[in-house]
Amino acid sequence: MNGAVESPAAVKAETHGDAAASKAKILLVDDEPKSLFALQELLSTLGENLMIAQSGEEALRLALKNDFAVILLDVRMPGMDGFETAKMIRGRERSRATPIIFLTAAADEMTSMFRGYEVGAVDYLMKPVVPEILKSKVAVFVELHRKSERLRESEEKLRRLAAHLISVREEERAHIAREIHDELGQVLTGLKMEVTWLAKRLHEQPLLEKTDSMCKLIDSTVQTVRKIATGLRPEMLDDMGLVAAIGWQAKEFQKRTGIRCRAKLPSEGTKLDIDVSTTAFRIFQEILTNVARHSRATRVDIELEVGGDQVRLDVADNGVGIAETELNGKKSLGLLGMHERALLFGGEVSISGAPGHGTRVSVVIPTRNRT
Ligand SMILES: Nc1ncnc2c1ncn2[C@@H]1O[C@H](COP(=O)(O)OP(=O)(O)OP(=O)(O)O)[C@@H](O)[C@H]1O
Ligand SMILES: [Mg+2]
Repeated sequence: MNGAVESPAAVKAETHGDAAASKAKILLVDDEPKSLFALQELLSTLGENLMIAQSGEEALRLALKNDFAVILLDVRMPGMDGFETAKMIRGRERSRATPIIFLTAAADEMTSMFRGYEVGAVDYLMKPVVPEILKSKVAVFVELHRKSERLRESEEKLRRLAAHLISVREEERAHIAREIHDELGQVLTGLKMEVTWLAKRLHEQPLLEKTDSMCKLIDSTVQTVRKIATGLRPEMLDDMGLVAAIGWQAKEFQKRTGIRCRAKLPSEGTKLDIDVSTTAFRIFQEILTNVARHSRATRVDIELEVGGDQVRLDVADNGVGIAETELNGKKSLGLLGMHERALLFGGEVSISGAPGHGTRVSVVIPTRNRT
């Protein structure tokens, strides 16, 4: 037989698109049409999307394309029997955790099967099934399925929200950095010209000393403004790209902390997407902040590779080493932020550390196929 025989309920649900989305899918597998019909009748009151298969092979095909809340599986079937079918279903990524209820005529069949292989979320019912028991078991699995769907949805929403916040924050920083740099920069340059003009017309020493100190104040304010703007968003990243920005940040870090930085950087070349560059750069900054704050390292080795389809950044310090418990600590928001940023681009961050042997953070971000 080609494909599954779909119940009227299933066909109806599929033609109604969105309405079907809220219905849980339940797969009924039995080689006997009569048994299938009886199961359908019994479960139709649940109002879910019932799908049927008359063989293990059909069941497997359907399990590849659908996420079932639960699968009701007849044990005795010609060809691939229920146990084999279950094993195969469990072997597939998509249906690895799908709950299965075996329908069996003999209790000892089940005992041998449970011994046979690992049985997560598996249940069984003796035939003839007691309608109320079957219905309530199925209802429990459907409820469980709904809850995990909801959980997945809310996780997805939170992730989208985090992505939005990250990008809004980045835009805002870039905007403020530009405003500060341009607006304040212009005013300060104007002020300096005015004071210089004034100084040229003054002849009394105390007044000249005043204008001189004013000029110095203006110069140091210009420096501060530059520092604030760069702290918000380094121009280097936009103008010269990731490689230059990482090199610059490493030098700054060494200057500021006294921790020796060795950076192995690729020769410039590949032009990266600015969002990918920003992500890698921000993760790098977070790594360095952690090194300065927690590692007590004296040396950091940085390696950046920009390949055809990915950016790889490796930062190793020779400090105290991050503890295993810190990796997933509830308070580790910095680390969580790194993971989330990378995840937004389908990348990942792996961190390893051994007490006394330093910490290594490896970041991989694909430059294509953004998720
Ligand atoms: N390079 C490192 N060497 C040793 N320990 C580290 C290192 N990086 C992180 N840690 C440990 O991991 C913990 C979690 O780091 P995380 O960046 O998430 O948080 P934080 O730096 O304490 O605070 P923030 O949320 O401000 O970043 C740190 O508190 C620290 O104990
Ligand atoms: Mg941190």
